[in-house]
Amino acid sequence: MAQASAPASTKRRTEPRWWWEPVFTVVSFTAFVVYSLWEVFAHNRGRYANYVSPYFSPDVAGWLHVYWLPALWVAWVPLLFRATCYYYRREYYRAFFQDPVACSIAERPRRYAGETRPPLAWNYLHRFFLYLSIVVVAFLWADAVAAFDFRGRFGMGLGSLVLLVNAVLLSLYTFSCHAFRHWVGGSLDCFTCRGRPRLRYTLWRRVSDLNRRHGLFAWISMFWVWGADLYVRLLIQGTIHDPRWF
Ligand code: FES
Repeated sequence: MAQASAPASTKRRTEPRWWWEPVFTVVSFTAFVVYSLWEVFAHNRGRYANYVSPYFSPDVAGWLHVYWLPALWVAWVPLLFRATCYYYRREYYRAFFQDPVACSIAERPRRYAGETRPPLAWNYLHRFFLYLSIVVVAFLWADAVAAFDFRGRFGMGLGSLVLLVNAVLLSLYTFSCHAFRHWVGGSLDCFTCRGRPRLRYTLWRRVSDLNRRHGLFAWISMFWVWGADLYVRLLIQGTIHDPRWF
């Protein structure tokens, strides 16, 4: 009897260039973390005129009149939000722990405890960092609006656009989060059996659409927030000038 061939979806082959993703992850994560530590621990100022660096927003330290390492008060929220992100976990488990390093590639022979013990077990705190990050995103939108306010008059510079795109990308990243998707649509067995079913169902579908691109938003927003901070930093140092159109 002729052997039935396996469905295409089960024909696993080793992608010859499987290594590029873990290498890209290691290089970009390492560079991002080193840059973030330098920004947080080496600077006491994150504002240039009406532009506020995303690492220094909201200005908690300013409200409390803290002038030493003010970014420390806020930067831990988005950084831990990213560090505990389900998508990033997949990426850095593969890239840094090689558990496994890629699909169809053998794991390294050693005991793997998964997320059953600290510190990896603390990743379950992700949902709480999500709640805090939503607050941070609200302040980033306020900063984006303020970036178009030049001493009480509407204006636009390159920095205005940089901070606006930053708020958009970080919103896409935050609201495509798996924990947010569960928040709006989870713990329900039936969308039509409780109060306001349509609203939650509609929200869940919208968030699910965003969630499919969560990995993409994760990378783009990470590079953009990095670039936005660097832009404000270079303005503060006088290395560059902000082009203004009106
Ligand atoms: S799963 Fe990535 S931010 Fe929540």
